Amino acid sequence: DDFFASVAAKSDSGALRGDYSNADKNYVVDQHWAAYSPAQHALWRRLYERQAKLIPGRACDVFLDSIKALDVSQGIPQFDRTTEALYKATGWQLVAVPGLVPDQTFFEHLANRRFPVTVWLREESEFDYIVEPDVFHDFFGHVPLLFNPVFADHLQEYGKGGLKALKLDGLAFLARLYWYTIEFGLIQSPEGLRIYGAGILSSGGEVEYALRGSPQNQQPNRIPFQVERVMRTLYKIDSYQETYFVIRDFQQLFDDTAPDFTALYEQLKAQDALPANTLLPGEKNLAVA
Ligand code: PHE
Ligand code: FE
Repeated sequence: DDFFASVAAKSDSGALRGDYSNADKNYVVDQHWAAYSPAQHALWRRLYERQAKLIPGRACDVFLDSIKALDVSQGIPQFDRTTEALYKATGWQLVAVPGLVPDQTFFEHLANRRFPVTVWLREESEFDYIVEPDVFHDFFGHVPLLFNPVFADHLQEYGKGGLKALKLDGLAFLARLYWYTIEFGLIQSPEGLRIYGAGILSSGGEVEYALRGSPQNQQPNRIPFQVERVMRTLYKIDSYQETYFVIRDFQQLFDDTAPDFTALYEQLKAQDALPANTLLPGEKNLAVA
């Protein structure tokens, strides 16, 4: 689960997908792994195979290493098994949730090193595009990065920062940060830009688009990550991104988001937001390779 999409999904439908009747007060449910059908495992395998072909040379190393070690090519994974390995690596756990959860609940999970993963899988007709995050997006996209200690620590700090932002009325800004990093972030490597954002890595089309542009050679902006710039920038929820922000490494993400955001939120509230396709004077569009 993630809250970027809760922003998207709540705005048009109101009703959430998923069965919330057995959820506990933290919205945690049993995964009921045995209840997935052979057809659902087969659909997962096809989703997995499509992405597995796209990511070599495009996803960052930690993603490639983790997804291989996780060995989830054969069907929908059992969250508890992953938790065993993940807990040893970085002290994180996966918890099953029915779907989107309230912001406060989401942040509380992250602040306690628990990553909420949606239990339901998309339908066949949603193979290419899905509005709300499903188990494939949540697991394939997000879980591999949790094996990186610096990223894992950052996500916990993000959760704490979310709880704080709720009190400071800063959620819109923090949502943009999440969107342009955890969901759609790019990272430098010695061989050129790589992808670490879950929204890109779980998408059939955006892996290619983020690094190569469109077949007509339309190119998105790819600019150096900077906290205030990101927090001022609107984002697209229904098309590929017009701008990607590039971090040097996960330590930069951790360090640059560590300062107290209280004053920054006040400053941002007094400014106009920038359209998603903005390139400010002097801003550098980075080369991909
Ligand atoms: N440093 C932020 C604050 O003081 C919290 C935060 C940490 C937000 C990491 C995002 C990521 O509010
Ligand atoms: Fe997500």
